[in-house]
Amino acid sequence: MNREEILLGIKSQLNSESVASANLANTLSFLYLDKDISWVGFYFVKENELVLSHFMGRPACNRIKIGEGVCGKAFAKGETIVVKNVHDFEGHIACDEKTMSEIVLPIIKDGYCYGVLDVDSYVEERFTEEDKKYFEEVVSLLVEHIDFDKVITKNYMAVMEERQSVRKYSDRKIPEHILEKIKLAGINSPSACNGQPYEVYLVTGEKAEEISKQRGILINKFMESVKSFIVVCEGKYNVSPVLNAKELAEKYGDIDLGICTANMVGAADAYGVDTCIIGSFKQDKVKEILKTEGMPKILIAMGMREENKIRNKKRIDVITLID
Ligand code: SME
Repeated sequence: MNREEILLGIKSQLNSESVASANLANTLSFLYLDKDISWVGFYFVKENELVLSHFMGRPACNRIKIGEGVCGKAFAKGETIVVKNVHDFEGHIACDEKTMSEIVLPIIKDGYCYGVLDVDSYVEERFTEEDKKYFEEVVSLLVEHIDFDKVITKNYMAVMEERQSVRKYSDRKIPEHILEKIKLAGINSPSACNGQPYEVYLVTGEKAEEISKQRGILINKFMESVKSFIVVCEGKYNVSPVLNAKELAEKYGDIDLGICTANMVGAADAYGVDTCIIGSFKQDKVKEILKTEGMPKILIAMGMREENKIRNKKRIDVITLID
């Protein structure tokens, strides 16, 4: 197949199918039909690493650290990297020793990088300026048609089963785009009284630094190094007019702000952002710092984990099935 035919094939695939995995798999299959391509595949960001996804070709390494190898560097810089001879590229990760040249393109939408498209060849200097344009066109078609948020996020049950509190974060900032998604999960959370009787703040920067000093006496020392927080405060019943609004807010306020908290920490985990829910902190001080109307009830520390360590959850089974 020549380039035009491959592009036509990819376009008709993307226009006729909406399931991302089918589109990703068939796009790669089309690209693989080009001359002298030994491997073509995707790595997507998960748990602060690039993790192998769909590909065509020989088995490849599962995980690549951000900033390492050609893939990790293209991801970190957000730029396409063309490698004429992989032996001249410092830090190249060899998954197949016969590989001679490689091109890696970041997959970026609204300034956020989801992962990379990696293409390898056994032929030296296989990828020209023209190839770069061609693959960039393919990536922009993918970005136009595929909801990459759905590709990189964990599914709901994985979040329920795997989420764990993290108290040690790396220096990586939480991308703006993900903060917006966490906010959306908060907005969409179920409410027992349907009135969302709370105020919520997602705090980074100087105010977060001030909050980090408001830990409870003797506990939560880790808070001192946290760079972002969610602050969930008591609030008033937000849907009017109902006669018993005040009563509803009082009765269901704590329940509803708990549900909102659960939704937001779940969304954060789905995007690879770690959290720790903090109950004991200087509530009045945090109120003063943010000038909130209601009293802060829950503080959530947020950040990107430093290492991928899975701990066993300590949970008691207090849930009974009754038939
Ligand atoms: N060579 C890549 C690793 C991925 S394999 O080529 C499939 C790199 O250096 O990042």
